[in-house]
Amino acid sequence: MVSDFYKEKSIQLFQGFKLWKDSKTNTMIVAEKQTFYKAIGSEVEVFNQVNQLKLPLLLKGPTGSGKSRFVEFMADQLHKKLITVSCHEETSSTDLIGRFIIKGAETVWIDGPLAIAVKNGFILYLDEIAEARPDVIVAIHSLTDHRRELFIDKLGETIKAHPDFLLVASFNPGYQKGFKELKPSTRQRFVALSFDYPEPKVEVEILMKETEVEKDIAQKLVNIATKIRNLTELGLTETVSTRLLVDAAKLINNGLSKRLSVHVAVVEPLTDEPETLEALKDLCDLMI
Ligand SMILES: Nc1ncnc2c1ncn2[C@@H]1O[C@H](COP(=O)(O)OP(=O)(O)OP(=O)(O)O)[C@@H](O)[C@H]1O
Ligand SMILES: [Mg+2]
Repeated sequence: MVSDFYKEKSIQLFQGFKLWKDSKTNTMIVAEKQTFYKAIGSEVEVFNQVNQLKLPLLLKGPTGSGKSRFVEFMADQLHKKLITVSCHEETSSTDLIGRFIIKGAETVWIDGPLAIAVKNGFILYLDEIAEARPDVIVAIHSLTDHRRELFIDKLGETIKAHPDFLLVASFNPGYQKGFKELKPSTRQRFVALSFDYPEPKVEVEILMKETEVEKDIAQKLVNIATKIRNLTELGLTETVSTRLLVDAAKLINNGLSKRLSVHVAVVEPLTDEPETLEALKDLCDLMI
């Protein structure tokens, strides 16, 4: 859909790229690609509110359900810079805040992504926050309440967050299987939004927009996903995500056979159990 803004400026959207005509040189100019995100519920409204009030936001939901894409989209919409940190069990507060490094005969301080975002008013997205070491959670505490400040212990300095600074974190509740939970005292510092796989009609739309796959194929892929998602007796740790369907659609569009695309992009990533693999492949062959 081309908005009035684009019509007025005679800017067109073409496959997600902004295009406009430069009247002096009579050439078409291609600008940056627009991030595509299809809203599922009230997440855009909630994000706009937390951004105005500068409340920290936690996105909960399974893998490949659009959490990262949503944050990229909102950063784009709000013309804000985004720094994403993928947390893992080795991620420490030093990685986020900064460290001294030796440069020639001198020791110089280098800001980490959190300090950069706090000072410049960027969005910091801590992906899979529950994976990070506990000192990371301690480090962000003073940023998540009315103080909005970061204590840099190695410098003995406290910095006030830039008014535009926004903290967003994500967390995958199912996959943590209880051993890496977020403590209630941490969770309660965030406004939280739940993500899940979209309803079939919307998911078909996402596949078509994201990959330009034909409607009929998109519909079949979504039917397969819906079927497998309902097979709870398989006991899969994670089920078919929108991400897997996007990958399958891309392979099909690129000329790989439909069956093979579904086998490698949808079925194989789900399990290593030979019998389940066989059963799922047979099921998909019937449905694609
Ligand atoms: N609502 C949506 N609008 C547009 N694309 C979507 C949407 N949901 C999922 N996708 C597609 O699914 C892919 C995976 O989404 P994304 O990377 O945002 O998942 P995630 O929730 O961050 O997963 P993870 O927990 O593994 O990081 C995207 O690259 C995009 O192609
Ligand atoms: Mg992500």
